[in-house]
Amino acid sequence: MEKREQLYEGKAKKVYATDDPNLVIVDYKDDATAFNGAKRGAIAGKGVINNQMTNRLMARMEKAGIPTHFVQELSERETVVKKVSIVPLEVIIRNISAGSFAKRYGVEEGIVFDAPTIEFSYKCDELDDPLLNTSHALALKLATPEEIETIKKYAFAVNDQLKAFWNQCGVTLVDFKLEFGRLADGTVVLADEISPDTCRLWDSKTHEKLDKDRFRRDLGGVEEAYAEVMRRMTEAL
Ligand code: TMP
Ligand code: ASP
Repeated sequence: MEKREQLYEGKAKKVYATDDPNLVIVDYKDDATAFNGAKRGAIAGKGVINNQMTNRLMARMEKAGIPTHFVQELSERETVVKKVSIVPLEVIIRNISAGSFAKRYGVEEGIVFDAPTIEFSYKCDELDDPLLNTSHALALKLATPEEIETIKKYAFAVNDQLKAFWNQCGVTLVDFKLEFGRLADGTVVLADEISPDTCRLWDSKTHEKLDKDRFRRDLGGVEEAYAEVMRRMTEAL
């Protein structure tokens, strides 16, 4: 697999072309941003952890029948994935109140929901990723009705799988963000990453935060938290 020109650089990853037009290489950085880039920093070793954790979780999702873009880990920070065009929706599933949900609805963090919630944001940095509903997404032609149905079904299935897995690790899955992509033939697959950057993960007993909220909220111990969830994942696998 030959790494060719850089196609794209995002806040946490770079994407490179390969000699195969259907495959690209993702390269995970240590850079961290929050609040749509307003807060910037780095989390030493994050790229390695997010790469390895994402790949192990994507492999589990495939096993559970959820198609993903994952192909093959190349190195500590690099992975070959199927080339997709990203559906411009951030798909957020919540099991417990936290973050923008707690703020928007004026409730405390930590309320356990009877059933998971789903919401969409329009993936658009200039507009600050505004919240939208299914009919808005359809009006804006961000996805077809069939794609939205597929995305919802996969997102809840990912939640079932992730919740059970993290539970085995003594970690509570509070909420997370997913992104989906279309392959050249239009098939919708899970893309992007599943990591402490994109999930809220709390220690099941102490409720200590083991995710990017430590960076967002200046809680300290950021690197240690990423290393701890990775250690627990490795032990459980
Ligand atoms: P929120 O409570 O800030 O809306 O975040 C919900 C979940 O989505 C949380 O696990 C963090 C994740 N997330 C991202 O991955 N990227 C983002 O840009 C935002 C705002 C949240
Ligand atoms: N994705 C957000 C940003 O770009 C960070 C976050 O996860 O809160 O700054």
